[in-house]
This record gives sequence, C-alpha cells and structure tokens, in this order.
Amino acid sequence: MDNSLSNYIKLLKELGFEYVVVDGETDPKTVEEKIKKLQQLNQQIQNCKKCDLYKERIQAVLGEGNINARLMFIGEAPGGDEDKQGRPFVGRAGKLLTKLIEEAGHKREEFYITNICKCRPPGNRTPTPWEMEACFPYLEEQIQIIDPKVLCLLGSTAARAFLGRNVSITKERGSVINWKGRLVYLTYHPAFVLRNPSHEKTLLEDIKRAIQLAYKED
Ligand code: URA
Repeated sequence: MDNSLSNYIKLLKELGFEYVVVDGETDPKTVEEKIKKLQQLNQQIQNCKKCDLYKERIQAVLGEGNINARLMFIGEAPGGDEDKQGRPFVGRAGKLLTKLIEEAGHKREEFYITNICKCRPPGNRTPTPWEMEACFPYLEEQIQIIDPKVLCLLGSTAARAFLGRNVSITKERGSVINWKGRLVYLTYHPAFVLRNPSHEKTLLEDIKRAIQLAYKED
C-alpha cells in the first residue's frame, strides 16, 4: 500500500468512519484534502461548547458517507443510538431511511448523511433555534467540503434551519428551493413516517426524486 493511501485510511479511522465511499472525484490530493478538512471539523465539533448540548452528549456525530456525494441527507440531530455509536441515522428512523434508499435502487453509502445539530438533545427533544444556529456553521462547512448538488432536508426542523421560518412539512414537502446555488429538497423525517406509516410511500417517492435531481445532468 502506498503511503498516501495508508495515511488516508488512518485518517478515516481517526474520523470514526466505519466505511467511506470515495465515489466520483478520485484525484488522491483532492480526496486527502477533503478527508483532512473533515477530520479538522470533527475535532472542532468534539470539542465544541457553543451551546449546552455538549454537557450530556457521549460524543458529537459529524456524519458519514461518500465524501463526493451528489446528494446529502440532513436530519435534525443525533438520537440515543447515534450518540452511542457516533454515526448518524443508525436507530429506527435510520433503518427506515436506509431501507427506503435501497428500495429506491441505491445504497446508503452512495450519499452523505448528517444532521443540523451534531449533538444529541437530552431526551431527543427538538433542538432549540439557538442550538441550530450555533451548529449551522459546521454544517455549512461540511456542505462546502463535500459539495453536493442536492440537499435533502428530512423534516420540518431541518427545513426551518435552512429557510429561517416555520415550515409545515405536510404542505411543503416535495418543494425544491435554491439555497446558495444548491438545490434543497424538502421531505418528511423518517421518524415522522414511523409514527405515520401511511406516508412511507411518499417519503420513498421523495427520496427517488431527490436522487434523480442529484444525478440529472445540467
Ligand atoms: N434523527 C435524526 O434527525 N438524526 C439522526 O441521526 C437520527 C435520528
């Protein structure tokens, strides 16, 4: 194994990745740079005390997936399973998200998955506007590094963080909005669908549409 590849794998392990897909950009320099930036970002969030969520977290959860993803799924905040494992969307809601991505004919690893807030709110409550505002610059940096074409916002909390206003997700799901030159696609949070299973088909159709938008040639 050449040096840069083994360094790269070391960095990934330090970042806590169970797996990483580097699909798309294969220039080793670009890949290594992205990984380094994500590693620095991970260090920042692990030490972050900007809001009180650090007090009860086991660990901050950066996100995972293809660092060249064309589509990024963005949820609300880690729950208990994510806080324990250090990975996003690995609990019941995450399993549903993974299942629907597979039903759409893709793999979870093709995309990048993260949250608005990187730390678990106690009792899985909704993050406060201040907690979201404090954490948002980390997400913005992540978006800049990974550079996805489409951001698929899961649920009204993620939508509110981007749009700066209350969002009725049942009314606005399926909307495509331009956000700083990227497409933002609004849909349900999988946890909402677990509570309201009749919406599962709609979430699946939305995921398919977000994937289509991401892979559509301009
Ligand atoms: N819910 C979220 O919004 N994010 C996770 O990572 C898990 C559950």
